[in-house]
Amino acid sequence: MVIHMIKGVIFDLDGVLVSTDELHYKAWKRLAKEIGISDFKREDNEKQRGVSRMESLQIVLDKGNKSYTEEEKEEFAERKNNYYKEMLKELDGSAVLPGALETVKLLKEKGIMTAVGSASKNAPDILEKIGLLTYMDKISSGLDTTRSKPDPEVFLVAADKLGLPPQDCLVIEDSAAGVQAAKAAGMKALGVGPYYFSLGADYEAENLAVSINWESILNEV
Ligand code: G6P
Ligand code: MG
Repeated sequence: MVIHMIKGVIFDLDGVLVSTDELHYKAWKRLAKEIGISDFKREDNEKQRGVSRMESLQIVLDKGNKSYTEEEKEEFAERKNNYYKEMLKELDGSAVLPGALETVKLLKEKGIMTAVGSASKNAPDILEKIGLLTYMDKISSGLDTTRSKPDPEVFLVAADKLGLPPQDCLVIEDSAAGVQAAKAAGMKALGVGPYYFSLGADYEAENLAVSINWESILNEV
């Protein structure tokens, strides 16, 4: 029997560690309304999970029938980010998702290295606000990368920063794009969140508070 041990776990941020996915939705919805798109719904927001700011904007604009210049698009993205950052001011430890902190602590006790792999340029700020920064060995975010999930870049950068080969890392994700990115990086993925069953992940759990068989996941028996 071959046992392959996982040495590092890379957490997506929004929707895995912290409930900011809801704030992204509210900020995009506000912008959509302002530019005359009134039917931007949760199911549209679903496609924005894990996707970069500019690509998320395109998902909003696709709901309307106007075309915009690059300058206008930049202004829309910045406006949304300002609404989002305004909401982040209130962010504290209560926004950490159920089971997230316990999971990070449990993994650290087992000697597993931890990292964040997120498209968000706000990732370091958010981690600091919710009190999880000190639990993470490394951070790979939208500030370190140019290609968006499903491209594996953000996870490969995280593995590189941890000093681990990709196959020694496990990714935890709440988006289909993120699970694809993990696979493209040569990493196994645990899917969580409201759509955990449809992400195509190797392992599935509704959230990090449910009982998860870490021994079998980490040892890949
Ligand atoms: C995460 C979220 C996306 C968001 C992206 C960029 O991946 O799931 O919904 O668009 O980060 O976030 P940012 O904070 O840089 O706009
Ligand atoms: Mg996410």
